[in-house]
Amino acid sequence: MSEWWKDGVIYQIYPRSFQDTTGNGIGDLKGITSRLGYLEDLGIDAIWISPIFPSPMKDAGYDVSDYTGIDPTFGTLEDFEALVADAHARGMKVLLDFVPSHTSDQHPWFEEARASKDSPKRDWYVWRDPAPDGGPPTNWISEFAGPAWTLDEATGQYYLHVFLREQPSLNWHNRELREAMYDVMRTWFDRGVDGFRVDAVENMGPDPEAGDNPPNPDWVESMGPARSHLGTNTKHQPVIFDIAREMRAVAEEYDPPRLLVGEAYGEIPQVMKYYGDALDAFQQPFNFLLIEAEWDAGNLVRLITEYEAALPDGAWPNWVLGNHDRARIASRVGPAQARNAMMLLLTIRGTPTIYQGDELGMENVVIPPDRVQDPWEKNVPGQGLGRDPVRTPIAWEDGPFGGFSTVDPWLPMDLGPERVVARQIASEGSMLSFTRALLKLRREMPELRRGTLEDVRAEGDVLRYARVLDGSRIEVLLNIGTEEAMLRQEGALILSTSGDSAVAEDPLAPGEGRIIRAE
Ligand code: GLC
Repeated sequence: MSEWWKDGVIYQIYPRSFQDTTGNGIGDLKGITSRLGYLEDLGIDAIWISPIFPSPMKDAGYDVSDYTGIDPTFGTLEDFEALVADAHARGMKVLLDFVPSHTSDQHPWFEEARASKDSPKRDWYVWRDPAPDGGPPTNWISEFAGPAWTLDEATGQYYLHVFLREQPSLNWHNRELREAMYDVMRTWFDRGVDGFRVDAVENMGPDPEAGDNPPNPDWVESMGPARSHLGTNTKHQPVIFDIAREMRAVAEEYDPPRLLVGEAYGEIPQVMKYYGDALDAFQQPFNFLLIEAEWDAGNLVRLITEYEAALPDGAWPNWVLGNHDRARIASRVGPAQARNAMMLLLTIRGTPTIYQGDELGMENVVIPPDRVQDPWEKNVPGQGLGRDPVRTPIAWEDGPFGGFSTVDPWLPMDLGPERVVARQIASEGSMLSFTRALLKLRREMPELRRGTLEDVRAEGDVLRYARVLDGSRIEVLLNIGTEEAMLRQEGALILSTSGDSAVAEDPLAPGEGRIIRAE
């Protein structure tokens, strides 16, 4: 029980786009509570809710101005407590989004820090004198373009912001700041929260003394300005691993220990460090390999094998297909492969996280320039960096705003009938019914949760592997190609992306995936 997440499936809720109950076109906490039945029927074990804290919303809530409150856009603390109580009554865990790398510039801590060089909170943020020419202290570039330093005219120093200038970076070298942040964690844990997804952790320890970042030799414009330099002195700095261990110690003050899922983008060995040398940091550093993977059987075999081989002894794997920052999986691999992607996510070894709407096959939605919300798209328009297309509201029912809201929502939405939840519930062949069937299988078959992962290989365009537990062997075959695959697999068919018509021994149709109990 204390490691519920080893058997569990996490579902990411993007609260602005889940369900509006106040008629302002933005989703809210009461909306989430009203849809918990949907999630229970779907068969997930935990929800992770993207930030719901008071925020000027310069970065959709990832600019927090009060870590322990609830933004009125989303409701009240009472609404949140009601949500937690309802989720728990249904046996579902609730994870929140902890944003430790930076606050909003409207956070009282920053207002205090910027008030004077002698402020007791000055050192809670990262300040440096101008370079000799008066410019920024280093050449660092903000994730959302432009310099990562802004001059505070009143005190004559620059402050660091890895993201927007309205998101000043916190100084985790400061012990008081650390303790204040650990108290924030405790506040939510005391309120019944079961864990955190921890935001942007690779950015928690930039080292201005180390100076400029070197240029990235592999840079092309489509990567965006921030990638034009390597993160040598800004990302994955050693201090972060101490902090992650301290956060874990806070999580371990509770029974059962709270779950920490760290968001760190990096190469496989880099990401593995976030487990901690003694598995004493994050229980789950997010594994984003599938979010960017070229959809090709050989490549998927390579990624899965490298990831498994790199896992420290005893570390528990996890997999993700999408989130609120990256292209929708159905758009990236194409609708014909979306079911295979879901089958892979829910049958490979490790804890899966499903991004809201992927169970419906939602695709990126085109956002007209006058509807753009994401600051990244505003700063670097037209290059496909903006994240609004993957953040659009869910269409629950037929009707003008899909039952999401009574007014035009904050972002345009896909109202295509094939996307509507009520229709998908009613249709046995829908992506939703398929995802539900997969989740049900996962619950019923311990092989899929706890089995070893064996014989990962590509046969032509078919990615295949087995999950084995106590001598019972489940084969998964995914035809990643566009041709029929002549592959014989004896056994009893358990589930196919093509529905009931499939037969275990038949060739796999293009884009077909199958789960078979081997004989
Ligand atoms: C993370 C979030 C992203 C946000 C950024 C800054 O990467 O997922 O949405 O913009 O951190 O907080």
